[in-house]
Amino acid sequence: MKLINKYGYIEYIIDNNIANIIFLEIKKKYRQKGYGSKLLKQSEKIFLNNGVKEVIVSANQSKLAISFWIKNNFVPIDKKEKDIIECINSSDAHIDYIFDIDQNSIILMKKIIK
Ligand SMILES: CC(C)(COP(=O)(O)OP(=O)(O)OC[C@H]1O[C@@H](n2cnc3c(N)ncnc32)[C@H](O)[C@@H]1OP(=O)(O)O)[C@@H](O)C(=O)NCCC(=O)NCCS
Repeated sequence: MKLINKYGYIEYIIDNNIANIIFLEIKKKYRQKGYGSKLLKQSEKIFLNNGVKEVIVSANQSKLAISFWIKNNFVPIDKKEKDIIECINSSDAHIDYIFDIDQNSIILMKKIIK
């Protein structure tokens, strides 16, 4: 499914009461004005109405994208990913190192909704 508005779009699949966010994109000129979070909240209402209890997203290791999901109450799914995110958040000095070893990896994050 894809929800589109003037500011961007969100694409997701619902399977087994889990919503998997495939992509969320806000047009460049509208970024950092709260529209991404708003679109996510609107989608979460739709998810709830469809029996969804858990939302999952694969955040790439862009610091911006990760901080967006964290700000919207997503948490990393496994321990290693949790450590990486703590590291990203705690010290900018570590970021180059993380990108270096994990350049193509993604971080799975989830959120329980109710
Ligand atoms: C990630 C994305 C959807 C966020 O949308 P947005 O409307 O800009 O986000 P919001 O305004 O709701 O939230 C802003 C928060 O996101 C993060 N963020 C997003 N862009 C940022 C930037 N350029 N600089 C710093 N933080 C940024 C921060 O946590 C920020 O919180 P803050 O304002 O308190 O610092 C948007 O930047 C985008 O389309 N990026 C390209 C596509 C992408 O990476 N999608 C996510 C993977 S599916």
